[in-house]
Amino acid sequence: MDYSSLKSKLDQQNRLIESLEKELTDLDQQRDKLKPNEQLAKLLTEREKLSFRIKILKRSIQEELSKPKSSSAMTSSNSARKLTSKALPPTESKNKYSTSITDTLYSLFDKAIQAEFSEIAEASVVITGSNVADYQCNSAMAICQALKTKGQKVNPNQVAQKIVANIEKNDLIEKTEVSGPGFINIYLSKNFCQTELKKLVMCGAQAPFIGEKKRIVIDFSSPNIAKEMHVGHLRSTIIGESISRLFEYFGHDVLRLNHLGDWGTQFGMLIAHLKDKFPNYSQEMAPIGDLQAFYKESKKRFDEDEQFKKRAYECVVKLQSYDPEIIMGWKLICDVSRKEFEHIYEELGISLIERGESFYQNLMKEVVADFEKENLVTVEDGRKLVFPPGVSIPLTIVKSDGGYTYDTSDLAALKNRLFAEKGDVLLYVIDAGQSVHMQGIFSAGKQIGWIKPCHRIEHVEFGVVLGEDKKKFKTRSGDTVRLKDLLDEGLTRALAKLKEKEREKVLSGEELVAAQKAVAYGCIKYADLSHNRTKEYIFSFEKMLEDKGNTAVYMLYAYTRIRSISRNAGVGSQQLKEYVASNSISLDDPKEWKLAKQILKFPEILIKTLNDLLIHSICDYMYELATVFTEFYDSCYCIEKDRQTGEIKSVNMSRLVLCDSTASVLATCFNLLGLKTLEKM
Ligand code: ARG
Repeated sequence: MDYSSLKSKLDQQNRLIESLEKELTDLDQQRDKLKPNEQLAKLLTEREKLSFRIKILKRSIQEELSKPKSSSAMTSSNSARKLTSKALPPTESKNKYSTSITDTLYSLFDKAIQAEFSEIAEASVVITGSNVADYQCNSAMAICQALKTKGQKVNPNQVAQKIVANIEKNDLIEKTEVSGPGFINIYLSKNFCQTELKKLVMCGAQAPFIGEKKRIVIDFSSPNIAKEMHVGHLRSTIIGESISRLFEYFGHDVLRLNHLGDWGTQFGMLIAHLKDKFPNYSQEMAPIGDLQAFYKESKKRFDEDEQFKKRAYECVVKLQSYDPEIIMGWKLICDVSRKEFEHIYEELGISLIERGESFYQNLMKEVVADFEKENLVTVEDGRKLVFPPGVSIPLTIVKSDGGYTYDTSDLAALKNRLFAEKGDVLLYVIDAGQSVHMQGIFSAGKQIGWIKPCHRIEHVEFGVVLGEDKKKFKTRSGDTVRLKDLLDEGLTRALAKLKEKEREKVLSGEELVAAQKAVAYGCIKYADLSHNRTKEYIFSFEKMLEDKGNTAVYMLYAYTRIRSISRNAGVGSQQLKEYVASNSISLDDPKEWKLAKQILKFPEILIKTLNDLLIHSICDYMYELATVFTEFYDSCYCIEKDRQTGEIKSVNMSRLVLCDSTASVLATCFNLLGLKTLEKM
């Protein structure tokens, strides 16, 4: 069973348990009022049956949860994991939130189904898009099948009719229709959509309400000091930034951590080499220009010279005991590296708090003691190992020389993020190659009791970056591509693209530079984010700079064009607000209606993405929105001009509202992706 169907099965079972438990309480209340008689006997058998079913269901959930997960190292219980939009509490202002249509339909149909078929385990809610109507509910078939196996004579159509009859009064659904084979076609109310659009114009694109604010700790970027920050780190940086923005958009409290590789044995050789090369380094600034070259030199010595190796190890020991002179060397090396990273973050608009492995040095001692206290440590050949359940490779928490490892620092980071930072959700944006490591950490965290079912802890993994030759992304000479060089090439190519379109003739010098950066960095980010992160992805400037298809260039142009419509008509956002305050938005033309529905899909895309953290859904959605918009714009006049003079004859305000709503949703998407938009391009 794959992860998502397992998840929906668990969801379904949890809901069932909830309703069964409620039934039990009801039964108990009834029993209390009754005298021992026949009816009571009946109630008691009923009660026993229900208790038994609950027990079985709970056990099967337990079994499913204890199976090792294959792809993602999801450790949280189902309820912690699945986010749905919630009904607004009366204290919340309706205008502050948007509505996720699918989620609302889901809960309406869930109630309707539970009212009639709560005894059917298969009674899950399936809501999809529809070719005939606006949405569709496909639950009747499975329920009917289940009833049949119980010996009841029904057909799906009858089941569907019963569901429909139970839908409670709401302002979302205009009407429903049951098709022959039992699909329930759902038609949205125009009135509802007009109200939502009005909210969008008045308050901008809002997130749906999802309940309480959570503390999110997200680990991303996390390059290694003195080593090349490579495209893998770039992926982590881009994806992590976007996921952080998404959670922030929902109002969560997000702590963005850069888990720098700034500790460990490589520093021994770097500092030993520093001492030899710049013996005066503690007095005067050592001019390390090229840290990569410096790293290579010291590595060479380390591999070839036994004496040097010994000194390198001594330096590691001194570093871990905070010897002041050695710490000074370490800081110096970190500073050189940091400058390079910071330049990249600055250019790409990434914000992060640096909290490297070194931060956890003291906590690592404590963590080893924690595991020892719980008798979870096995000593083998002088190493201290932890064997987390369900994971093939043990964690090494202390090496034979007494030093700590990547495993130890990640356990310490886990503990810190759960207890000191009080994280509810911990995310690790790291390449899929490290999934066994992450599984080990999570499993150990559960074993020692740090991770509770209320936590959502996930390795947000991503595939490798390949070159156009489908091999590992390298320069022609086979070296790792320096990120700085990559960004510079992006800038050069973006400028060429803009010049090809003769943009330098219409944009001022300043505007051109803004456009160049927006296009270059936008393309790199969008190309990454628009691909399913779990798959490998081919880095190609050629492709990402195309102006057709689902690319940043296309989307940025589309956005600028849409934005310019009301500007050209001389209508500002204040005027649009005033218009919707006293007029209703026309959705009579089929193209207007189609566009409105596409705009209002935005909240459900957000909720979906918050659950699966697959950002490409947002890109797919934007592309579809731009396409539906073009269809609308091609057939619906927004501004009528005089053929001869080009003078504006009339403006359709209601349609400008649709243009503006499209633009405002697109702008929000760009913002979530970390892309800069332009008013002029
Ligand atoms: N520095 C590591 C690397 O370059 C990534 C660290 C990811 N974060 C973590 N908590 N392990 O591979």
